[in-house]
Amino acid sequence: MLEIKISDQKAQCEIEFITSVEGSEDEVILKEMNFKDVFFVQETRKLYIKVENHDPDTLRESAAKAVRYIKKLPFESARVHLCGGRKGIEAILMGLYCGDYVFETYKTQKEESPLREVFIECGCETLGVVLEECRVVASNIFLVRDLVNTIPNEATPSYLAQIAKDKAQELGIECSVLDQKKMQEEKMESLLAVARASVHEPKLIHLSYKPKTSKARLVFVGKGLTYDSGGLSLKPADYMVTMKADKAGGCAVMGIIFAIAQLGLPLEVHGIIGAVENMIGGNAYKPDDVLISREGKSIEVRNTDAEGRLVLADCLSYAQDLKPDYLIDLATLTGACVVGLGEFTYGIMGHNTELKNHFEQNALQSGELVAQLPFNSHLRKLIDSKIADVCNVSSSRYGGAITAGMFLAEFVREENRDKWLHLDIAGPAYVEKEWDINPYGASGIGVRGCVEFAKSLVEEK
Ligand code: BES
Ligand code: ZN
Ligand code: ZN
Repeated sequence: MLEIKISDQKAQCEIEFITSVEGSEDEVILKEMNFKDVFFVQETRKLYIKVENHDPDTLRESAAKAVRYIKKLPFESARVHLCGGRKGIEAILMGLYCGDYVFETYKTQKEESPLREVFIECGCETLGVVLEECRVVASNIFLVRDLVNTIPNEATPSYLAQIAKDKAQELGIECSVLDQKKMQEEKMESLLAVARASVHEPKLIHLSYKPKTSKARLVFVGKGLTYDSGGLSLKPADYMVTMKADKAGGCAVMGIIFAIAQLGLPLEVHGIIGAVENMIGGNAYKPDDVLISREGKSIEVRNTDAEGRLVLADCLSYAQDLKPDYLIDLATLTGACVVGLGEFTYGIMGHNTELKNHFEQNALQSGELVAQLPFNSHLRKLIDSKIADVCNVSSSRYGGAITAGMFLAEFVREENRDKWLHLDIAGPAYVEKEWDINPYGASGIGVRGCVEFAKSLVEEK
């Protein structure tokens, strides 16, 4: 991770965000060069990045661009000129950290950059706190990206469980793992059916952070499909590629819990991660099966590729035994959500309008793109089953993100109706072309938004 320091030391180069060339130190050169968006002035060793304004979103993206550019130059240190007030500074720091990330585990030739340190200054006392908060969130985004990028043969359910245990021990928080036998005792038939054809045993990972004083209890639930082949309703070859990223929700939940623990927020937080692999085989669960979920509801399976909701149904059930004040699930649940919102935005669903608005506001502020998708009673009818209580797929091709959300809603108890949010992160979880602060591959989406939301609960009460 890049080392960002508050220091007045001289750096080998500088980065400056400018709204206009007028008045800048290198005005003459920049004008001569017909400066448009990015230019490095050799003489003064200054990288100029044009920004339209000082909005946090603009500055964050520009900072990521700047760090990617500077890393290609032969400098070990850079000074970044901060701007944009507290929110702007926070955005710049997040852009610098996240823009620096590369995943090269499987490359024999790594692209080494000499850049080691970034110096900043602003003359305000709170900069140290802001910097440390950004470092914590960014380092957990890195952990999520690393995990999601890890290949499916390596990142199995037990691998995720081991990482969770190791990291929990390091942070002094609790982690327990339910194996197949324990889940059988818990009657998690829905989750276990999905896992059955895999050679990798499923794991239910339960992380908890319980500080001495707590203002609320939050339970995050994550879809951790370490691979989604589609099962017997097998995915076409082109659609199967990138399905190692179907664990992005579960990995994000890990990052969220660790970040909140490291920040020491006065909130009790739990993470429930359903780590499962969806494969084919003689003992695979089938379209036409009927499963009895942990909540007791029966589910008609008509498509084994709609497996995430089956795993989450049982995880949500388990999570509700913890009596949450807020229950939030994160999942790469549907391709339909990507069709509807595009690949940069994730969907927010639930019954509680106020909670959805509150979450939306915080997620947007953190720099994540989100949009609400509304439930309605007509769409609910599309998941009725003739032979069971509910069907795992809709009878219509339209509204697939919402009908999936409404399927999950079937497993949320009446008393938790207004405490629950479903986040469909299928779009932004995995990036096939670098954008904003995200490199190719896993983005770590959900961490910033959920941590920001958690912070807002502490400030309010
Ligand atoms: N993991 C997929 C959803 C997905 C698609 C995530 C693209 C990321 C990118 C999920 O398990 C799935 O396969 N959903 C099906 C549901 C359908 C069978 C009702 C889908 O979206 O096609
Ligand atoms: Zn699937
Ligand atoms: Zn899936």
